Amino acid sequence: MKAIAMVVIFLFVFSSLFTISSAEISGQPGVNYGQLGNNLPTPTTSVSLIKNLKAKRVKIYDANPQILKALENTGIQVSIMLPNELVTNVSSNQTLANQWVQTNLVPFYSKTLIRYLLVGNELISSTTNQTWPHIVPAMYRMKHSLTIFGLHKVKVGTPLAMDVLQTSFPPSNGTFRNDIALSVMKPMLEFLHVTNSFFFLDVYPFFAWTSDPININLDYALFESDNITVTDSGTGLVYTNLFDQMVDAVYFAMERLGYPDIQIFIAETGWPNDGDLDQIGANIHNAGTYNRNFVKKVTKKPPVGTPARPGSILPSFIFALYNENLKTGLGTERHFGLLYPNGSRIYEIDLSGKTPEYEYKPLPPPDDYKGKAWCVVAEGANKTAVVEALSYACSQGNRTCELVQPGKPCFEPDSVVGHASYAFSSYWAQFRRVGGTCNFNGLATQIAEDPSYGSCKYPSVIL
Ligand SMILES: *[C@@H]1O[C@H](CO)[C@@H](O)[C@H](O)[C@H]1NC(C)=O
Ligand SMILES: *[C@@H]1O[C@H](CO)[C@@H](O)[C@H](O)[C@H]1NC(C)=O
Ligand SMILES: *[C@@H]1O[C@H](CO)[C@@H](O)[C@H](O)[C@H]1NC(C)=O
Ligand SMILES: *[C@@H]1O[C@H](CO)[C@@H](O)[C@H](O)[C@H]1NC(C)=O
Ligand SMILES: *[C@@H]1O[C@H](CO)[C@@H](O)[C@H](O)[C@H]1NC(C)=O
Ligand SMILES: *[C@@H]1O[C@H](CO)[C@@H](O)[C@H](O)[C@H]1NC(C)=O
Ligand SMILES: *[C@@H]1O[C@H](CO)[C@@H](O)[C@H](O)[C@H]1NC(C)=O
Ligand SMILES: *[C@@H]1O[C@H](CO)[C@@H](O)[C@H](O)[C@H]1NC(C)=O
Repeated sequence: MKAIAMVVIFLFVFSSLFTISSAEISGQPGVNYGQLGNNLPTPTTSVSLIKNLKAKRVKIYDANPQILKALENTGIQVSIMLPNELVTNVSSNQTLANQWVQTNLVPFYSKTLIRYLLVGNELISSTTNQTWPHIVPAMYRMKHSLTIFGLHKVKVGTPLAMDVLQTSFPPSNGTFRNDIALSVMKPMLEFLHVTNSFFFLDVYPFFAWTSDPININLDYALFESDNITVTDSGTGLVYTNLFDQMVDAVYFAMERLGYPDIQIFIAETGWPNDGDLDQIGANIHNAGTYNRNFVKKVTKKPPVGTPARPGSILPSFIFALYNENLKTGLGTERHFGLLYPNGSRIYEIDLSGKTPEYEYKPLPPPDDYKGKAWCVVAEGANKTAVVEALSYACSQGNRTCELVQPGKPCFEPDSVVGHASYAFSSYWAQFRRVGGTCNFNGLATQIAEDPSYGSCKYPSVIL
């Protein structure tokens, strides 16, 4: 009861306070400053690198005080994040919400242009349905705290990934998933509507293309196609790139729930510059092409928008500032950076959109790996976990581990890493056809040099 009364009060307060038009927002992209690396420059150095890139804004995945301090008086707009772990508690505890804002925002607000407060990160994808009912209440709590402290310029949102959609093709059939549409999305859209905030969306044409590289044209995914078009049979709208198609699917899903007027803010987009040997399309050529074309698209004047929202500005953050070596998962996860960890650019890029294409040096040609590959234990892998993975690989049958048995050619030298590397290669070579991967929870890595020795021949896959 109390909660409902509070919500009603919020609605009145919000509708009177938040009348600043979001149409004035800049299309010049920002950058996501992820910190999951053990070799990254300091916040101060990072901020000068961000300035050199001409990023309009920066998004961080926490509220790191050193970074907020380094961003003082820079004119760069900043997005900070309430960690996922706090969302449930904040949703029912205004004191905690206030405390968080007081500690993480208030001390910096006068000198650092904190403009966005994101409640968690991809919560629908990364938490269980136990957390979901708390997302929107936590957003109301955070907004209320901001009001209490008089921080009226800060918009509250929460970044979501494309997996919130049940249907995304054709775009006009875009629909939110049944399990969240009415319970989470509708109240969230109502919140975004009354607070005049944004739908923060993570959009990766790379992953969509990767899931079906045969039928999706790579140039269409890289904004490189002039003559490849996809027509939405429901609306007749003509698409010339995959990004627009994905974004419009979300616009149509919002419209379906009765919210046609909420602006999308691209919280993350980008393309990997490298990846595992078998990950095609992840190279410097494609990453440079995608990100340069993206900058060109969103900085165009007048704004181009998307087929369903022509002329609208698409504010954005490119993912990411650095290649981050501590991210888990496939190799591409660690290679979305605009910069190497030493701060040098992987390819030339100017986020202001003011460098004409001909001034950039040509990108290196796409260099997807072709040849034999092996799967071995990754550097620094946890030895206890490797023992478990070895035993898993060997239990899959098909004589995966025959050659590492005593007396067989790959037994000596008798080491866990040696045996596991053989077993991983053997497993991958046999089971790749049926979906087996070279990953083993991040304990394995793909290599192009043959680890065979003497009469011990490691099985390989051909890429
Ligand atoms: C959330 O609140 C519960 C109960 O008050 C507490 O035990 C827990 O430590 C809190 N969690 C976090 C992440 O603060
Ligand atoms: C709410 O948060 C405050 C501040 O962290 C804490 O002291 C208090 O115990 C919390 N209340 C409940 C009911 O968990
Ligand atoms: C939450 O998820 C569990 C396991 O996936 C499922 O059994 C349950 O029905 C879900 N609960 C709700 C309220 O959707
Ligand atoms: C859109 O979705 C509906 C219902 O799922 C389906 O019947 C229809 O064929 C779809 N439209 C197109 C153009 O695919
Ligand atoms: C698009 O144009 C390119 C270059 O002119 C050509 O190679 C390609 O076949 C064309 N694709 C389609 C689908 O027409
Ligand atoms: C930075 O690192 C990259 C990749 O390791 C390397 O190619 C480049 O030479 C380095 N640049 C400097 C200035 O050290
Ligand atoms: C190593 O892996 C084991 C088994 O999976 C796990 O219990 C242990 O916590 C891990 N150690 C470290 C340092 O991560
Ligand atoms: C495993 O070996 C059996 C018998 O030789 C064979 O039928 C099956 O296809 C093999 N499985 C894989 C995934 O190679």
